[in-house]
Amino acid sequence: GGGGGDDAAAEGYPEDDITFVVPFSAGGPTDTVTRLVAEPMAEELGGNVVVQNVEGAGGTIAAGQVAAANPDGYTVLMHHIGMSTAPSLYADLPYEPLEDFKTVGLVTEVPMTIVARSDFEPGTMEELVEYVEQNAEDVTLANAGIGAASHLCGLLIQEALGVKLTEVPYEGTGPALQDLVAGEVDLMCDQTTNTTGQIQAGQIKAYAVTTPERVESLPDLPTTEEAGLEALQVGVWHGLYVPAETPDAIVEKLSAALKVALADQNVIDQLAELGAAPSSEEDATPDAHMEQLESQIELWRPIIEEAGVAAN
Ligand code: MLT
Repeated sequence: GGGGGDDAAAEGYPEDDITFVVPFSAGGPTDTVTRLVAEPMAEELGGNVVVQNVEGAGGTIAAGQVAAANPDGYTVLMHHIGMSTAPSLYADLPYEPLEDFKTVGLVTEVPMTIVARSDFEPGTMEELVEYVEQNAEDVTLANAGIGAASHLCGLLIQEALGVKLTEVPYEGTGPALQDLVAGEVDLMCDQTTNTTGQIQAGQIKAYAVTTPERVESLPDLPTTEEAGLEALQVGVWHGLYVPAETPDAIVEKLSAALKVALADQNVIDQLAELGAAPSSEEDATPDAHMEQLESQIELWRPIIEEAGVAAN
């Protein structure tokens, strides 16, 4: 990046549709957050944002596609915590998160919930721990592929309980949640942005929220710490990324639009209803998010290595 051509490149931007690539299925948590911020961002940019779902391999297909896209500001990746875990999970990752992207900014932070089909036997977290210890192989655990937040949380659950469950991969937790509601799979750990409605409607069972604090929209749900599993903590963050050679002046335009979107009252209210919050202004800058990404890669590497899982 950098260089004198930047300002010229950014001047008319955007003069075409901007594609926000979502690495998981439509209707899931990443898709929900993306569509929520895309609208006010498009308005602020004076352009049009199109959302494209590119599923597969726990989000790494989409990230690889954006890393290799034209660095012209018209292809933007919405990703999440998987951006920081994939390098430890995939030996042959077709991109390098810190080298092949520029960060636009942190978008939101989302708690996760441990949920089950509504007729799953255990009623509380304590009963779940006991049940899973006795029936480990028979318990199915949905996730959105290796590198998904649901996969990471599933690893932490299995670590915390010292069990190996039968993992069932989907291309996003949107379809996984449908199977959970239908009773096709037993258990999942997924973001409140996907699970809140079904928990409130009693279509699925919820045992705990994986953050240090309870979630306002699900006030009766204990934290994992309250339920005796304090090691089981994970918060999902979402961030926006562009290919590394994208001109800085375009990144600045996208970052300014993100800042406006995160202060939008409708965005704040809708995220709150779903148990989530927009990033703070200082965490949402390109530099702050690059630093966060670096430290998240370092944080998760030893945890993943200890869990002894790898995709290839
Ligand atoms: C999704 O959007 O489907 C989720 O973010 C998948 C996941 O990471 O668990």
